[in-house]
Amino acid sequence: MRNMLQDPILSWYDENRRHLPWRYAPGITADPYHVLLSEVMLQQTTVVTVKDYFLRFIDRWPTLADLAQAPLDDVYHCWQGLGYYSRAKNLHNCANHVVSHFNGEIPSSLEDLITLPGIGPYTAAAIGAIAFDRPTVPVDGNIIRVFSRIFAMTTPLPALKNEIFDLVKDHVPTHRSGDFAQALMDIGATVCKPRSPLCESCPVKHLCQSYAKGLADSIPMKIAKPLKPRRFGVVFWVENARGEIAIQRRPATGLLANMMEIPGTSWTDTPPDINEILKDASFSNGPWILLKKTVKHTFTHFHLELQILKGSDHESTGQLMCSPTDFSSHAFPTLMKKVIQLAMMK
Ligand code: ADE
Repeated sequence: MRNMLQDPILSWYDENRRHLPWRYAPGITADPYHVLLSEVMLQQTTVVTVKDYFLRFIDRWPTLADLAQAPLDDVYHCWQGLGYYSRAKNLHNCANHVVSHFNGEIPSSLEDLITLPGIGPYTAAAIGAIAFDRPTVPVDGNIIRVFSRIFAMTTPLPALKNEIFDLVKDHVPTHRSGDFAQALMDIGATVCKPRSPLCESCPVKHLCQSYAKGLADSIPMKIAKPLKPRRFGVVFWVENARGEIAIQRRPATGLLANMMEIPGTSWTDTPPDINEILKDASFSNGPWILLKKTVKHTFTHFHLELQILKGSDHESTGQLMCSPTDFSSHAFPTLMKKVIQLAMMK
């Protein structure tokens, strides 16, 4: 079936592609900075969410050199709400690395691309194909699904991934590599969907072995995932006489590195004993009030539940005091936005 996929998939793309702000017309290679920026944003975030962020970034930093010169805090601030904040730091590092090691030009070879901060094999392949027409197929979840269905591959994930890596080597397009990759992404997102695929609209249904066998809905197969563990913590929402709230910066490494937060306990595997915690919570002079509602948030590897203790008459122990009207000038991750929303509810 070598290269039999190429023509129907590219023709489908010409007619049916999604019009996304980082994309150029079929056959025209895109601005490498736009491609790199969009691919980093798309690493763990959906196309719908990324669109506005992408436009805001290129409006504010029209070139990679502009982004390299931006203060990191401004980049974090603009990234707020996209999640996985280490990507913002890597993106900024990446822009600086390209300026200092590649004369400001994003390199075109996969070997060089993969040396850039925050660029793994998938993103390097996507940038290589889309921005530089390098003959390669980036393998993401969409592409795994499309290929595993076409070839009715019954190996379950995650082992399936390695089989797909081998398989795509035989399906590297002879031209328009970027369009081919993006066509596969679009077919995966809009036709060959995870559930209820729209096989009748598929440009390669005549070649699809899962379609022929009525298996499309059950491929790719998965080994049942272990449940995500739950973790727990308490945050201290403390106000001073001027109505300002204590906030602080998180450590430079680990989850939500460098982001702003409402101070709190470390996160533990068992629910906290509030009385024990209050013994150490010395920085409110007024009485503590425990909110009935909790904040729930899910990270990649665990669920987190935070309780909120509200205190008053705060004596600072090194935190920054910030009026809620100024919260928008700080980079709070979504978790902390949920805390703020709950703590401020009347
Ligand atoms: N997901 C990752 N990269 C993408 C792209 N260039 N277009 C659509 N979805 C994507």
